[in-house]
Amino acid sequence: MRAVLQGQIESLTLEGHGVTRVEGKVYFVDGALPGETVEFEVKRSRRKHGHAKLTQIIEANSDNGRVEPDCEYFGVCGGCSFRHYEPIRQLEAKQQALLDALERIGRVTPNQIIEPATADWLHYRRKARLGIRFVEKKGGALVGFREKGSSFITPLNQCFTLTKPLSDLLPGLAKLVNSLTIRQKLPQIEVAQGDNQISLVFRHLQALSQKDLDLIESFAKVNQIQAFLQPKGLDSIHPLYPKVPEELYYKLDDFDLRFYFAPTDFIQVNSKANQLLINMALDFLNLQADDRVLDLYCGLGNFSLPLAQKCKHVLGVEGDKRLVDKAIANADKNHLDNVTFQQQDLSDQQADFSWLSDQYNKVLLDPARSGAALVCQQFVNYKPEKIVYVSCNPTTLARDANVLTNLASYQLTHAGIINMFPHTAHIESIAVFER
Ligand SMILES: C[S@@+](CC[C@H](N)C(=O)[O-])C[C@H]1O[C@@H](n2cnc3c(N)ncnc32)[C@H](O)[C@@H]1O
Repeated sequence: MRAVLQGQIESLTLEGHGVTRVEGKVYFVDGALPGETVEFEVKRSRRKHGHAKLTQIIEANSDNGRVEPDCEYFGVCGGCSFRHYEPIRQLEAKQQALLDALERIGRVTPNQIIEPATADWLHYRRKARLGIRFVEKKGGALVGFREKGSSFITPLNQCFTLTKPLSDLLPGLAKLVNSLTIRQKLPQIEVAQGDNQISLVFRHLQALSQKDLDLIESFAKVNQIQAFLQPKGLDSIHPLYPKVPEELYYKLDDFDLRFYFAPTDFIQVNSKANQLLINMALDFLNLQADDRVLDLYCGLGNFSLPLAQKCKHVLGVEGDKRLVDKAIANADKNHLDNVTFQQQDLSDQQADFSWLSDQYNKVLLDPARSGAALVCQQFVNYKPEKIVYVSCNPTTLARDANVLTNLASYQLTHAGIINMFPHTAHIESIAVFER
């Protein structure tokens, strides 16, 4: 039998779990918020800590920010962690998590905390991977996000984080999958919305019959979307309908730029927050006409192209060859000739970093969750005057900030959060380092 305990919630983790201590042991209680006394059921227990689920709020705190979740799937679906928490409290919690990480891991405090930058709270996510399971006893195909802490799928009829047009496809997608002969061999669908079109990529582990192909094609026609098939790796993706699809693009209106991308490419998922983020990054870089700027982990050029409009030269570096090719094409399509791109694995210890010489005086970094440890070590020798670090993981940002401030003698002048992923546990942040 699982233990049921009581405790008072002291704080909140980065994953949105309430933290309590009972007899010296720490419990992470899913669904509980600071200021509440709760009863919880222990799901997993280790020597010093355990994971638990909220079963009852014994003593609520009317002033602790708890709100009625607006989504029927909240608590089960792993997509969101904070729909039960007032927006302003979510921002405070994320900002505090960033500052705590900087202090605890980075041993640094920013000179100035930037006000949280926020855009839409609902229907903001323009790209996602939907999981699929066929479970006969649950009525057939389940299409949605993973359940919290499990590999089961939450079947979704709608989703408040996906853009409205993507959310509206959900009920029809479940019906479509149910009608396919290979419904048990379809693990996922990638959905991506550009400013011009929606594309869906159906990953399938078995050949589709002609009837299956007809059904997917007619779903695409009725919903006016583009359907692609993926029988193997990314190279195997090919269009089903229309035969010659439109390339997806998103616009950055403030810069009059268009970025073309494939439905499986990395793009910033929240269009408005992305625009805010780029404006902030460029403001902090305080670009001058003769600046030479590095954009590391540049993807398809999301920052490189706006940077290039404001300075002399930009070098974008990116590990994924596909994205490097997209970045080159995007620069070309936007008629920018002062930006070059190169492919390099920036975490390869053997890599040649000689291009990081002092001819580049400013740097933008936007690494993946693992951060930019090796790159930041290079700044102990090559010392650009300004580094703007955009991060999706406060822990690795803090680790790298430690190197930049304590070994490379930079000042952390500003840090703050951008609400790129409202209601979820993800924290997007920006930090500015100056010599
Ligand atoms: C958070 S994304 C940012 C992309 C781009 N700045 C944007 O705004 O769209 C991180 C990028 O780092 C790239 N990346 C991840 N690990 C890398 C590595 N070891 N070396 C170089 N690039 C890497 C990924 O392919 C991805 O494009």
